[in-house]
Amino acid sequence: MTYNEAYTYAAKILSIVLPGDIKDELRICFEEYLKIPIWKVTTYPDRKLSPDEESKLLDYVARRARREPWQYIVGKSYFMGLEFHVDKTVFIPRPETEDLVTYTYIIVRKFNLQSIWDVGTGCGAIAIVLKRMLPNIEVYASDIIPLKLARHNANNVGVKVHFKRGNLLDAFAELKVDTIVCNPPYIPSTRYWDLPPEVLYEPRTSYDGGTDGLEIIKQLIPQTVSHLTPCGVLLIELDSTQSDKVLELAHQYYPHACILKDSFDKPRFLITSNRDITVHPWETLRDRFMVGLF
Ligand SMILES: C[S@@+](CC[C@H](N)C(=O)[O-])C[C@H]1O[C@@H](n2cnc3c(N)ncnc32)[C@H](O)[C@@H]1O
Repeated sequence: MTYNEAYTYAAKILSIVLPGDIKDELRICFEEYLKIPIWKVTTYPDRKLSPDEESKLLDYVARRARREPWQYIVGKSYFMGLEFHVDKTVFIPRPETEDLVTYTYIIVRKFNLQSIWDVGTGCGAIAIVLKRMLPNIEVYASDIIPLKLARHNANNVGVKVHFKRGNLLDAFAELKVDTIVCNPPYIPSTRYWDLPPEVLYEPRTSYDGGTDGLEIIKQLIPQTVSHLTPCGVLLIELDSTQSDKVLELAHQYYPHACILKDSFDKPRFLITSNRDITVHPWETLRDRFMVGLF
């Protein structure tokens, strides 16, 4: 099979089965999986794929046609400009969560907080990026699933994070920190089967938040009270439809609570504390803020 035949074949199949523009899909298939830059495909259309490349191409197209996420096929994902190894045992980090990390970074800097706990860390993305951005801060991370991949990713990035397996805040039973950050499962069970086919390849425990989607959040907020230092801050990612309910819940435990919006202007993050944690609009100019951090 020539480069041109391979590209035409992949484009034909993927354009039938995948929604939207498939240009990125083809780039990922060739550049990330086959390690053949797209410029070579266009410059040398008659060059032949090796037998190994050809079988990899067929494998990629077949798996992607069954809507397996490209991140699981390629074995990696990107988050805040860093590379993370992922497999079917972990949630694939999402761009929305980059806003949660940005807010956490802003809050930690603004209030001179000294420690962070990422609850439900999955492949370690939130904890590892925060440790990379804030090297002097102690970072802890826990999850109910094994943390082998998260540890591997921390080693790869070259940062030291304290990992421990456990249910919510039982993981570090005695620990008190200045910041708790969590991207919990928050999809109502009834909506789970309506999620895109790719999502159904990911662990259900990463998505299913019980009957109203708030089962984990309802357990987590009260637990944080005894694990935060007196001026500590809790940040949680939510579904935009849940913000009013979660804000009401937070106010039962903390005097200050507010909801912040994501890059698409949707109410997506709870920030709550015993101290006034007003975040001014200029502080959320993420692009300007983040330039040059890595
Ligand atoms: C939406 S995923 C977020 C993963 C990662 N923090 C990220 O943002 O990429 C939710 C994570 O919470 C974990 N989780 C679910 N229930 C949990 C529990 N009871 N205790 C601790 N972690 C839990 C899941 O295993 C999963 O890794």
